[in-house]
Amino acid sequence: MSNDGVNQRRRRFLTGATCVVGAAGVVGAAVPFVGSWNPSAKAKAAGAPVKANIGKIEPGQMITVEWRGKPVYILRRTEAALDALDQTADFIRDPKSENSEQPAYVDPVTRSIKPEYLVLVGLCTHLGCAPMYRPEVGVDPGSGNPDDDWYGGFFCPCHGSKFDLAGRVYQGVPAPLNLEVPPYSYDSDNVITIGVDPEGAA
Ligand code: FES
Repeated sequence: MSNDGVNQRRRRFLTGATCVVGAAGVVGAAVPFVGSWNPSAKAKAAGAPVKANIGKIEPGQMITVEWRGKPVYILRRTEAALDALDQTADFIRDPKSENSEQPAYVDPVTRSIKPEYLVLVGLCTHLGCAPMYRPEVGVDPGSGNPDDDWYGGFFCPCHGSKFDLAGRVYQGVPAPLNLEVPPYSYDSDNVITIGVDPEGAA
């Protein structure tokens, strides 16, 4: 084999490798970066608190951050979403969160410190799949068919559990409990820390 042949193949390999690196860079840039203040991976695995900037979340939008290896959903609720909590109450198994895992300092119905922002552990209370955010009102989140009783919420694709826009579980689905609310506190209007109770909280 001549040196020319080897060099040509080497050049082709290098060109291909450059393209792959370029593509990965584009994908990385397209994903919203929400973890800029997070501690190191080692600290996170040990359960360190995680800060999240919530100031840029649009009404109706949800972001996900990682805390203790779990997804944590942060949803900015609209007025309509908060109004819908009254309408869903009849379909909910535990509307006042009497048997739910949530800190005592969150409201039992909105399940939040400030009603506008909902913070939930994004793991289904049935077998731990990640429920999907399904805000479309009037559309069954599983089948996509019209459903006047759906006011937006979360849908678990594994076995069909449904939760409303406070993470409260619907009746008649496999999940037994509302989605968990983790401990969290506000550092400022725009920054929360997940994993730390508010100062003075019982
Ligand atoms: S894991 Fe969600 S319904 Fe089974």
